[in-house]
Amino acid sequence: MSIESVMREIEIESSSGKKFLPIVGPVKGNFLYMLAKVSQAKTVLDVGTLTGYSALLMTKAVGTKGKVTTIENDKNYYDEAVRNFKKAKAKNIIPKFGDATELLKKMPENKFDIIFLDIWKEGYVQVLDNCVRVLKKNGLLIADNVMWEEEPLKKWREAIFNHKKIVSFLVPLADGMSVSMKS
Ligand SMILES: C[S@@+](CC[C@H](N)C(=O)[O-])C[C@H]1O[C@@H](n2cnc3c(N)ncnc32)[C@H](O)[C@@H]1O
Repeated sequence: MSIESVMREIEIESSSGKKFLPIVGPVKGNFLYMLAKVSQAKTVLDVGTLTGYSALLMTKAVGTKGKVTTIENDKNYYDEAVRNFKKAKAKNIIPKFGDATELLKKMPENKFDIIFLDIWKEGYVQVLDNCVRVLKKNGLLIADNVMWEEEPLKKWREAIFNHKKIVSFLVPLADGMSVSMKS
């Protein structure tokens, strides 16, 4: 199957409401895709794989010469994502099973052009410093759902605007995305 067909299958499954499948979706997905394309990103880190939708989207953007590393800590989602990557013949995705906070600590600095952060929201602030560390200079950290009123998102907005190594802004697209550039 093509990458697009596998993504479409995930979109249909997500919108059917039969199971909880909170994917980034096609609208915010287009924005992510556009940022990856215009910045000519080749190395992407996708934090929060679920069943692989955002990783597949990013693999389309980076092309066959790029690499997408994706992190998931739920074994069922991880296994389903790996099956979806095989189905889509997406060979340049590197799936990693484990907790994002721990895996990020072990990654080398200045490695990624783009990081898409989309884990459970209590984890956002916890991974911020390491996301910035592994991001290349002028690289982009994009986080999803950032306009929610919940405490973890309030703390996220505060943290990104007070962080010394990034310049950030909020994009009021659906429930919001933040875009931060490492300076
Ligand atoms: C909102 S979903 C990700 C959706 C995905 N980015 C997409 O668009 O298809 C969040 C995922 O992050 C995973 N997750 C939550 N906290 C995590 C953590 N600390 N480390 C790794 N994965 C985590 C969850 O199990 C879930 O699959």
